[in-house]
Amino acid sequence: MKKILITSALPYVNNVPHLGNCVCVISADVYSRYQRSKGEEVIYVLGTDEHGTTTETRALKEGLTPKQICDKYAKIHHDIYKWFDCEPDCWGRSSSKENATQTVDIFKKLEKNGYILEKELSQAYCEKCKKFLSDRYILGECPFCGYGGARGDQCEKCGKLLDPEQLVKPKCNICGAKPIFKTTKHLFMDLPKIEPKLRKWIKKEEAKWSTNAKTLTQGWLKEGLRPRCITRDLKWGIQVPFKGYEDKVFYSWFDAPIGYIGITRENKKDWKDWWYSPKDTELVQFMGKDNIPFHTILFPSFLIGTGENYTLLNKISVNEYLNYEGGMFSKSKHVGVFGDDAMESGISADVFRYYIMVNRPEKQDTEFAWEDFTDKNNHELVGNFGNLVNRTLSFISRFKGGVVPKGKLNDKFIKEWKEYIKRITDALDKIELKKALREIMELSKLGNKFFQDSEPWKTLKENPEVADTALFLLANLVKDLAILMSPFLPKTADSINNQLNIKQSKWKDLGILSIKAGHKINEPKILFAKIDTKQLAEFKSKYSGGKEEEIHPLSKINLKVAEILIVEPHPDADKLYVMQIDIGKEKRQLVAGLRNYYKAEELKGKHIVIVSNLQPVKLRGKESQGMLLAAVKDDKVTIVEAPLSAPGSPVTAEGISQGDSQITYKEFKETKLTVRGKRIVSKETGALRTNKETLKVNMPDGASVE
Ligand code: 2FM
Ligand code: ZN
Repeated sequence: MKKILITSALPYVNNVPHLGNCVCVISADVYSRYQRSKGEEVIYVLGTDEHGTTTETRALKEGLTPKQICDKYAKIHHDIYKWFDCEPDCWGRSSSKENATQTVDIFKKLEKNGYILEKELSQAYCEKCKKFLSDRYILGECPFCGYGGARGDQCEKCGKLLDPEQLVKPKCNICGAKPIFKTTKHLFMDLPKIEPKLRKWIKKEEAKWSTNAKTLTQGWLKEGLRPRCITRDLKWGIQVPFKGYEDKVFYSWFDAPIGYIGITRENKKDWKDWWYSPKDTELVQFMGKDNIPFHTILFPSFLIGTGENYTLLNKISVNEYLNYEGGMFSKSKHVGVFGDDAMESGISADVFRYYIMVNRPEKQDTEFAWEDFTDKNNHELVGNFGNLVNRTLSFISRFKGGVVPKGKLNDKFIKEWKEYIKRITDALDKIELKKALREIMELSKLGNKFFQDSEPWKTLKENPEVADTALFLLANLVKDLAILMSPFLPKTADSINNQLNIKQSKWKDLGILSIKAGHKINEPKILFAKIDTKQLAEFKSKYSGGKEEEIHPLSKINLKVAEILIVEPHPDADKLYVMQIDIGKEKRQLVAGLRNYYKAEELKGKHIVIVSNLQPVKLRGKESQGMLLAAVKDDKVTIVEAPLSAPGSPVTAEGISQGDSQITYKEFKETKLTVRGKRIVSKETGALRTNKETLKVNMPDGASVE
């Protein structure tokens, strides 16, 4: 029997993943759990894709180093997937030493075998940031439609693909300066040279691939393969061991797929038994549709080009996109449910897993919509599945003292039930996860119908044999449903097994009436709760964000944590305090209108947040060098605090550039900060935070922060 090596595309580390990003990770988890339940030898490899410009840029925005950004977000990703009950056997990071070793090893072999070319390129360079800018980090006017926020690779408005040199009035997305174009040397993977070997391999394998994977790959081949650049002018990445490339690193799409191997190497001593074992190992890779060519063309080329006997892709499962309520997820605009939102939502991971899998975008994009979510939760999980489990077990508990009665066989029912098992297993083997889940729900419906037809509430007295048969068979069906559901809803399956008072069964136990008459079950429990209209309305408003379409220029406010050292009443104004504060490297004086809201002793020692680049102003003769942030609503005022962060720590958010030039109060007010879910946000920015904490203020939604 072949071992099964499963990978999920390694998510980019530089953000908090949203439900759409989780589709792939959860799909690979479902498939891995299924294979484990069948008793196969499986490893599921997952981790974060950490190199590249996006990480460097995020680091600049948050005032952290790329390494700190990766450490911070890798943990966020890890915790979110764990919360979703994803259980990879190997978890790791593309920035590990093991991956650097693996990447360099593969590169050296490619070079030795003549697959590496050197070429010159013209590239945008920002003289102010002293940095080459990747295409996406240049903004300007679209030469086709005139849209002002077009990126160097594409105009989001008209959809045209662009070259950065085509942009009218180009500017650096980090500092706003005009970039120049410089020529530099880069290394390329010689795809035309490896093409014959690649084609031969594709021809042999593609029959097992999904249609979208086949079509896209064939499209690439038809267009003709061109050499692909595998180096970048960045600092954050794996060093290129090649003379003259001391200042360059590998392109993240070179080391990210190699990361699958690196991560296995990081976790397992016997990693070679998996990755150098094409005869005994089946490689099954899960990804979003935009990742296809990297997995069917580039990654295999890197591996084939080494001349070594690597395990190559066998099965590929591609998902399309999960959109949010008719639009796109956007963290900065607070549109959609992100991993951290899911964790705080009060809804269980299993319910999210159910919805994501039953809506899995297999052949086309699908949508996360709260109405539909509520509907599926209430009708399918509560009304169908939960109801069958609960009514069966409650009946046994209430009317049979918790002891499974003796029943007869019912051939017709058992035959149908076994047909479902076969269909579900077939679908799972073909990685048609959505179909498998729907069939499981149909089987549950069949159980409900059998319950209904047997009328145990009546037959219990009038015709006990009918009632007992129903309860006996349905107890066994519930056991099977727990097995079938276990890849999808692992906690629910555990709960059913607990209620049934049995150990977790495996795939091979399906269809066997192993729960015998006389078996004592435990106290039944409700599996799922209904979502009511009030909750639905709350979810909808909480995650729907503003409907802004424009791309906004970065806000130039520079926020810092400050400690209040001394608080004194203003000699000439009865609402104001004059405070001395510490902002890390310097001390400043602040004048604030807090006397009606806070006593001086209450303020002393607090870590507050100030706008540090505000032009100083005199208030009744006392200079205020900055302004503290407070949330204001009606007649309530609460200062924003950062208790865990040291004085001087930058307070950042997506969409805030930490500008160092002075701004006026009016300019500050252009970024309308408000409270949403206790966090501080604006339409253009993500939630304010430091490297220690997300800032929270105990004020209602909509309070303005000023
Ligand atoms: O699209 C993405 O999220 C990429 N980070 C996927 C990388 S897949 C693999 F190569 F690591
Ligand atoms: Zn710049």
